[in-house]
Amino acid sequence: MDSVVVTGGASGIGAAVARLAAQQGLRPIVWDLAAVADGSIVDVRDPAAVAAAFAAAGPVRYLVNNAGPASGGPALPFVDGLASTAGSVELVTSAWLATGPPDGSAVVNVASVAGNLVGTDSPWYSAGKAAIAGYTRHLATRAAPRVRANAVAPGFIDTPRMAGFADTDLGRSLIARNPMGRAGRPEDVAAAVLFLLSPAAAYINGVLLPVDGGWTVSQ
Ligand SMILES: NC(=O)c1ccc[n+]([C@@H]2O[C@H](COP(=O)([O-])OP(=O)(O)OC[C@H]3O[C@@H](n4cnc5c(N)ncnc54)[C@H](O)[C@@H]3O)[C@@H](O)[C@H]2O)c1
Repeated sequence: MDSVVVTGGASGIGAAVARLAAQQGLRPIVWDLAAVADGSIVDVRDPAAVAAAFAAAGPVRYLVNNAGPASGGPALPFVDGLASTAGSVELVTSAWLATGPPDGSAVVNVASVAGNLVGTDSPWYSAGKAAIAGYTRHLATRAAPRVRANAVAPGFIDTPRMAGFADTDLGRSLIARNPMGRAGRPEDVAAAVLFLLSPAAAYINGVLLPVDGGWTVSQ
């Protein structure tokens, strides 16, 4: 059974990815700051913790870099924000590549529509998500053909992090301007992630796939 490491898999999008991976016959290995069944407490900003977690995981064919701080969380200095978003993705991916994943491996990075088109209050969130998209393109050109690399850019997804947001004025207006007329669900993103990991996406490499109900193209 092939393993997939899902960072930030205790909640929201990451938890949906881990659930769908298991349904599709993969072995999900969840790393999170929070304790979770079938997972370990791993801070993806911590090189020693990441190295130890890979050593414990055994061969890992697939990687989903989903963990990252919330844009609306505690204020971070700009460089710390970049390190927590894009820096942690590079850290985990480099450690994974060093384990020698087999031919046909794949990584999916979770960016955001805030990375390519939308500004946020936080000075580092958009910059960090844009950096994740750029790093994904680097991987797609340098890690292939052994490893494919793609990213998803979720729009507003109703996860614990966004609890109550749909009922705010801003949340209501985002939904009203979304062609699908609703917020995204974690499962919407998980389906895209599992597709990009799968052999069905064998010739898809280096894309940034919006999962936003068409919100981006309707603005
Ligand atoms: N929800 C949205 O609207 C939305 C939109 C675009 C992008 N995203 C991105 O999707 C990803 C998941 O967000 P979510 O909405 O599911 O959030 P969430 O808060 O529900 O879950 C995030 C999980 O990541 C974990 N985590 C955070 N920092 C970590 C670290 N350093 N090491 C290990 N685990 C860590 C948290 O403990 C939590 O369990 C994030 O990268 C986020 O930026 C979310």
